[in-house]
Amino acid sequence: MDFAPELLEALRQARHVAVFTGAGVSAESGIPTFRDAQTGLWAQYRAEDLATPDAFERDPAMVWQWYAWRRELMQSAQPNPGHRAIAELERRVPRVCVITQNVDGLHRMAGCSDVIELHGNIWDNVCFSCGRRVDRGEDVNAVDTPPRCPHCNGLLRPGVVWFGEALPAEAWQRAAQEAELADVFFCIGTSSLVEPAASLPRHAQSCGRTVIQINPESTGHDAFARFVLRGKAGEVLPALLADAWPAC
Ligand code: OAD
Repeated sequence: MDFAPELLEALRQARHVAVFTGAGVSAESGIPTFRDAQTGLWAQYRAEDLATPDAFERDPAMVWQWYAWRRELMQSAQPNPGHRAIAELERRVPRVCVITQNVDGLHRMAGCSDVIELHGNIWDNVCFSCGRRVDRGEDVNAVDTPPRCPHCNGLLRPGVVWFGEALPAEAWQRAAQEAELADVFFCIGTSSLVEPAASLPRHAQSCGRTVIQINPESTGHDAFARFVLRGKAGEVLPALLADAWPAC
């Protein structure tokens, strides 16, 4: 893989890197991307119709079972070379922050120490009524209907952001700040259709940051990227690190 010398130099000079990721980064860990995820029993439903507060109010059991299925898909997943290369950046750049739309927790599992989870985490449970986080063990996956909140008896739901819900304010503020301040802003494995998260690469570019896009396909973000690298994250990222820092 040939990388532009200016790209390698921008990386070597960077003191602060932000890495914005989407479902494509976890595809090589065997987790289908959000829009490819509907297979088998769930093929007849659109994710956009299940991941909403309305859907949960209408049919909590169905939404709970869908998440149990998604948790099962994610349970055995391990970080892939793309996740590991992102974690590896911390050894080469003084400040690295990952901003992810993924709810699978794989960036942390790969060793990333600063991860902003814009869409929450699928392993968390929060109460649909009182909003409190409730720690429950594996047993929650075994039941077909949402368990009850021990505080208010409301229904538990997964701690992820649904369509129509606001992003967690603090996470969003930090993400926007990272896009403003990072020398290099990676945009990896996201189709970037969902606002406001999708606006981050545009924001980084408008602040004069070097935006690097990694995706096997073109997306709306190619226009904001100074460098567009076509390929899989798990292949492009390790090659990029090896070329930028050959001595490591
Ligand atoms: P999508 O499923 O929309 O897009 C996945 C992107 O990854 C596509 O652009 C693919 O081309 C790319 N891709 C596939 N394999 C890849 C690989 N090996 N390496 C790099 N890129 C690859 O997923 P997201 O953009 O993450 O929101 O979707 C963002 C949000 O939309 C999700 O968090 C979810 C969804 O609606 C909510 O649930 C609120």
